[in-house]
Amino acid sequence: MGSNEARDLFQAQTHLYKHIFNFASSMSLKCAVQLGIPDVIDRHGEPISLPELVTALQLHPDKTGYVQRLMRLMVHSGFFATIHVCRNQDEEEEEAYDLTTSSRLLLKDKVPSMLPFVTAMLDPALTTPWQFLGNWFCGNEVTPFETAHGMGLWEYGHKNPGFNRVFNEAMASDSGMMNLVIKDCKPNFEGLSSLVDVGGGTGKVARILCEAFPNLKCTVLELPQVVANLQDSANLKFIAGDMFHAIPPADAILLKLTLHALSDEECLKVLKKCREAIPDNGKGKVIIIDIVINEEGDEHESTEAKLFFDMLMMVVVTGRERREKEWEKLILEAGFSKYQITPIFGLRSLIEVYP
Ligand SMILES: C[S@@+](CC[C@H](N)C(=O)[O-])C[C@H]1O[C@@H](n2cnc3c(N)ncnc32)[C@H](O)[C@@H]1O
Repeated sequence: MGSNEARDLFQAQTHLYKHIFNFASSMSLKCAVQLGIPDVIDRHGEPISLPELVTALQLHPDKTGYVQRLMRLMVHSGFFATIHVCRNQDEEEEEAYDLTTSSRLLLKDKVPSMLPFVTAMLDPALTTPWQFLGNWFCGNEVTPFETAHGMGLWEYGHKNPGFNRVFNEAMASDSGMMNLVIKDCKPNFEGLSSLVDVGGGTGKVARILCEAFPNLKCTVLELPQVVANLQDSANLKFIAGDMFHAIPPADAILLKLTLHALSDEECLKVLKKCREAIPDNGKGKVIIIDIVINEEGDEHESTEAKLFFDMLMMVVVTGRERREKEWEKLILEAGFSKYQITPIFGLRSLIEVYP
């Protein structure tokens, strides 16, 4: 074997190790969030040294070295930055940790925060089904989630109120990011009098819309376990129902991350109901906020994240992420005539669909 061949094989081995241990990255992130490291650094008000961090976290003193190793990986993954500080003239320089834009998104009481999303997506209820993926391909269960838990995701949420709360908080935290670009969405929502957010969770997006467009009356249609204790307000109403049975009429129907959780057959049923729910007076439309896979146009990291979501939809529900052609097929088959895609929400696009 030549030295080039050996080098290639070692490179391939490194590639393999990286992917075998990718979960170490997720689990270390979960641990950093559980310990509240981003908040401790934020409260410190300046980059924090390792001893200060260990003291503030109130950990066992024997764990100092372990914290350093956790932080080393987190720095390598871009969640924290290290800088060298010299507190006073006599002291040697020491390393201190600072937040990065990614860890600023993991602060507990700051807006926007993706902390609840980390907590929910790395909850054992959602990570255990991945262990069943291989077996699922050989069996007849609808999803690996069902193989693992003996029931679908929404039924599991119904039966496990703790998980239901954590999941709904995660979705609300993800939706909170919409606030960042709502000002750019004026042309998409202005002029609408009524909107139904189908599968709208606990109403985070509807609240953002009501605030930005005070003349808009919003309704959230959701499963009973999600909206059971939520209070209506002047321009926001919650309806416990089933999108496969009935969708209330409105100028616009919003579907944010609702369709990516559904198979093509299920999507068609819901989209046809949406078509019936909107008027034909030129004002009616369906607004989909979801991923559009675009391997040619997107950065490698964006495509990778989109493909991770696609696998997540395979593991926990019956859904999938779609390319533009796949969206187009569904939209036209459901009886709509045209659509327009605007990539505006990071990984997600706004897809306006017209009768
Ligand atoms: C992926 S979440 C999206 C939540 C929200 N739109 C957001 O982006 O934050 C999908 C939502 O669909 C809801 N859902 C699932 N099946 C439903 C049904 N048959 N009728 C109404 N809502 C449903 C779930 O409860 C869940 O909140």
